[in-house]
Amino acid sequence: FDAETSRKGSQAPTPPQAVTGIGKKVAKPDYSESKIVLAMVGLPARGKSYLSNKLMIYLKWLEYDVKVFNVGQLRRTRARQKAKESGIKEDHSASFFSHANAEGTLSRDRLAADSLEMLIKWLNEGGNVGIHDATNSTRDRRAKLEARVAKEHGMQLIFLESICNDPAVIAANIALKVGSGDPDYKDFSPGKAKEDFIRRIQEYEKVYETITEPHLSYLRITNVGREVTVSRINGYLSSRIAFYLMNLHLKPRSIYLSRHGESQYNVLQKLGGDSLLSPHGMQYAKALPALIKDNIGDAQLTVWTSTLRRTIQTAEFLDYTKLTWKSLDELDAGVCDGMTYEEIEQAYPDDFANRDEDKFNYRYRGGESYRDVVIRLEPVIMELERQENILIIGHQAILRCLYAYFHHLTQEDLPYVKIPLHTVIKLTPRAYGCDEERYALPITAVNTHRPKPKANEPTVQPSTSRHYFTEVGSA
Ligand code: F6P
Repeated sequence: FDAETSRKGSQAPTPPQAVTGIGKKVAKPDYSESKIVLAMVGLPARGKSYLSNKLMIYLKWLEYDVKVFNVGQLRRTRARQKAKESGIKEDHSASFFSHANAEGTLSRDRLAADSLEMLIKWLNEGGNVGIHDATNSTRDRRAKLEARVAKEHGMQLIFLESICNDPAVIAANIALKVGSGDPDYKDFSPGKAKEDFIRRIQEYEKVYETITEPHLSYLRITNVGREVTVSRINGYLSSRIAFYLMNLHLKPRSIYLSRHGESQYNVLQKLGGDSLLSPHGMQYAKALPALIKDNIGDAQLTVWTSTLRRTIQTAEFLDYTKLTWKSLDELDAGVCDGMTYEEIEQAYPDDFANRDEDKFNYRYRGGESYRDVVIRLEPVIMELERQENILIIGHQAILRCLYAYFHHLTQEDLPYVKIPLHTVIKLTPRAYGCDEERYALPITAVNTHRPKPKANEPTVQPSTSRHYFTEVGSA
């Protein structure tokens, strides 16, 4: 990957959206034409909820409106209500899920249908992707979903089947279900819970039909990313989803994020530019290899930097494969590049206020918004999903965007995430979420974090603005 190849990275089409709003708030991309029912298919413990969740986070990061409709949750909520109202406690142990249990089957079909109704209503009210998180494991069930969605104009139905035949992954999923305080098993001992859940899986196995219906649009993913079958998938968003799923894997790994060492521009409180490191920044670059080595030992690691000199210099002493990405360059401040916050406020007071009002959407004159940066980082996220241990030496705004993806932060919170200088953030993806550790090296650096001004207070005052860049000890 050099700057050129990284741009080609994903080889995916760019989403249709208008480029407007220079120097002010940018309108949200218009995704109103995208209406997808994504129906999961698979036995219990095959990672359907994991995939639903990953997809939701990825698409929401790209600002699609996505919601998961989990049929199991609906079942539990309704059972709770029934127990409260009538005192009748429904039995949801394995026999409830047996095909031979006519009442149970009817009840489950009704739950799936009701959940689909809620999903369709939500899509009609403006949602983009509704994920129907259920087993949908028979042809009959899928035909029902198909017939219902066909009645909706402009709505697309895609099935996503998750097959998993890796016993270790299945065992881990079972352990997660029974060990995570799942409400289905709150009255069971751990041993009994496991036994019952395995019996439930066996009930489903008896009637399970993998997707073979040739007319359906579907994706089949085997052992999370090892193999993906794509059938009748067309259109921008559905291809995007397919591409994302192809890049996923479950191998344990960590992603390390670090800003470049303190730069000469940081010391001068200037934004952007392509300055070299300050003496403290150089100290950080020299200290970084030992920190990484202590943490990762002999495991493999690849270092990604931007094309800007301060990141390349920070990576100088690291003895790993290094790649530079143009997409990792800092948010382009356009006409404000090289200015301090105070200078910007004086020269462009309206812009400055607009940015404080809605930092994610604000686009610098001749430059970028955080939203623009998220879009340009999409190939980086795709590649990060594919890779194993990666250290990214980047910039404040860039790392905020990447961090927000892994921690599922809102667009509002994203531009204010604290990513101090001279600190390595280690992210370790888990089944649902991401563990984080921070290692702050005791090397002095300025503080470049400008907090969100409180409403109705003057934005930047000299006393507070100085504070944004005051020298601190270790971060
Ligand atoms: O101050 C360092 C820096 O990386 C600038 O180059 C960049 O414009 C800024 O941070 C981004 O942070 P914010 O969006 O908070 O202004």
